Amino acid sequence: MDKMTVQGGHTLGGVVRASGSKNAVLPLIFATLLADGEHVLHNVPDLVDVNHACLLLESLGCTTSLRSGTLRIVVKPLKTCEASYDIVRKMRASILVLGPLLARFREAKVSLPGGCAIGTRPIDLHLEGMKALGAEITVESGYVLGKTLRLQGAKILFESPTVGGTENMMMAASLAEQETLIENAAKEPEILDLANYLNKMGARVEGAGTSIIKIRGVEALKAAEHSVIPDRIEAGTLLLAGAITGGEVTVDKCQPQDLESLNVKLTESGFKISVDKSSMTVHKCKEWRGVDITTSPHPAFPTDLQAQFMALMTQAQGTSVITETVFENRFMHVQELVRLNADITPKTRVAVVRGTCGQLMGAPVMATDLRASASLILAGLVASGETTVNRIYHLDRGYEKMEAKLTALGAKIQRLKT
Ligand code: EPZ
Repeated sequence: MDKMTVQGGHTLGGVVRASGSKNAVLPLIFATLLADGEHVLHNVPDLVDVNHACLLLESLGCTTSLRSGTLRIVVKPLKTCEASYDIVRKMRASILVLGPLLARFREAKVSLPGGCAIGTRPIDLHLEGMKALGAEITVESGYVLGKTLRLQGAKILFESPTVGGTENMMMAASLAEQETLIENAAKEPEILDLANYLNKMGARVEGAGTSIIKIRGVEALKAAEHSVIPDRIEAGTLLLAGAITGGEVTVDKCQPQDLESLNVKLTESGFKISVDKSSMTVHKCKEWRGVDITTSPHPAFPTDLQAQFMALMTQAQGTSVITETVFENRFMHVQELVRLNADITPKTRVAVVRGTCGQLMGAPVMATDLRASASLILAGLVASGETTVNRIYHLDRGYEKMEAKLTALGAKIQRLKT
């Protein structure tokens, strides 16, 4: 298993470009099932999760090829409507194949994705949505079985905003009869990107990015071409890498409007942030204050930046209270940060971080999930000596060429193949 070693004490500086968004491209890949023909997606990051999504499409009978950021997907009549356990267990977002299979092929057999390190990750809201559209849904031997003569438009009110649930509904409703209304829909930028792609395919989706999305079903869709939005979580992670080392880092080709909540919190903490149309800069800062954050659905502070922001707060003057409201077990990085001499007291959904009660000291640590691995690398950038992050395969799921990007900014970081 590969690991990453980081030599602390180097200030980062320079310009780095954000890759295409993992959490935008995954639903786009599954949306291609809604129309035969060749789909072309640009600005696609070369990630383990993207490769797994392509493997799933190929297991259904599609062909995919990713070259220099352009992903070509040819969808033809499928050889099966079954998404097998051995693929779905590797990538939970595979559940997003459910809506397109039901909408287009009127049947689906999708393995239950199971939980992951950060929580049980249920899919009850996804299944409620499909049932609202008239699908017959049962769960047997670890699989979701779905069938329908044709999905019927419906109104669904999600009891809580769900990104994947909203995406599954949008894709399924695009080919359903009549009109579908999704209330309390998720408002993440990735939802808007999916709606833009579906509309390029001929769908009629309105209101994406707000809590009420209307989809008027159509008879058929066509293959389309689209460029994936930049990855706001990667952009935020790179900005935090600059911030924690007291350097000046500009993230280019990003969408600053998607990171407003991070901008507000970094500014509150004492950083100067500059923004223009497609880039964001964190300026040099010697001392910053502890600030409290509470993660919540967009546009509030994103849960996917919580671990990285916590690393920054270990170096703040004073205390910060970090509340995680989205996932029930997203503090796995806390004990690893404590191994680096951070002063953090975790409770169920709240962690109290006492900043600068001691220099972080490099040590071997264990990555437990995607964003925890990024948090540990950020901590390693300022810890004295060497930090070794084990199980770095977690990082490769969602960050494209992270060590090359950090090295270009002046980090001393190396991947060790073991
Ligand atoms: C998406 O996951 C992202 N993944 C996650 O990013 C992100 O953390 C999350 O949205 C929240 O923003 C992708 O887009 C591939 P949810 P998703 O449905 O869709 C509960 C990363 O690090 N829930 O909005 O699974 C759920 O347990 C990953 O890039 C139900 O109870 O998130 C959670 O508490 C991690 N029933 C909350 O809702 C359901 O049917 C939000 O989950 C569905 C969700």
